[in-house]
Amino acid sequence: MSKLIQIAIDGPAGAGKSTIAKIVAEALSFTYIDTGAMYRAVTYKAMKQNIRLNDTESLEKMLRSTDIVLQPSKDGQLVFLDGENVSSQIRSNEVTANVSQVAAHANIREILVAMQKALAANGGVVMDGRDIGTHVLKDAELKIFMSASVEERARRRFIDNEKRGIPSTIETLQQEIALRDKLDSEREASPLIQAEDAIYLDTTELSINEAADTILKLAKEKMI
Ligand code: DC
Repeated sequence: MSKLIQIAIDGPAGAGKSTIAKIVAEALSFTYIDTGAMYRAVTYKAMKQNIRLNDTESLEKMLRSTDIVLQPSKDGQLVFLDGENVSSQIRSNEVTANVSQVAAHANIREILVAMQKALAANGGVVMDGRDIGTHVLKDAELKIFMSASVEERARRRFIDNEKRGIPSTIETLQQEIALRDKLDSEREASPLIQAEDAIYLDTTELSINEAADTILKLAKEKMI
């Protein structure tokens, strides 16, 4: 029987992590875990409750009485916040614009990281995020750091937004992505950096299937 390994996929927004991670997980019959969705769910709830996003203590208090459930479905991973399906709400422009601020709080990260570790404990997972290879799954058998040019990432987000009916322009998306990269990689708590033992994968010139195949090949070598 092949090993139920942990696969960590990190990288900046729009590199193709979630699309590719989902394909890899499905091909291996592994569980896909989108950790960004957890930070988004916390941000969404805080905004709804008018909690100031720099108020670390109130955010932590809120999170300690919050239930976040990630549920695989044929339409991708569903996100339930206190029993409510918020899968599309957490992708709104407002949540996207604010989530880096919430993700910068060390206490919030600590709680979510503990949940993520528990979800991956039995292996057979593909987990994507920013700090999976460096903090959440330090012993993952396969770590990928995925990136692409800012221009290409903005173009992909634009197409994605069009499909979801979210209005946007390429120029604004480029600015937002560059800002989010800066916030995510310069924050003090678990900044976005490549783990020493991660394999770098530039997807600028790769199709989704080419990128997924590259990871699948590497994964199968580790599963023997
Ligand atoms: O992947 P995403 O765009 O849904 O992530 C949303 C935000 O959450 C992003 O600004 C970075 C942050 N994040 C994080 O800090 N650590 C993770 N493991 C996942 C996401």
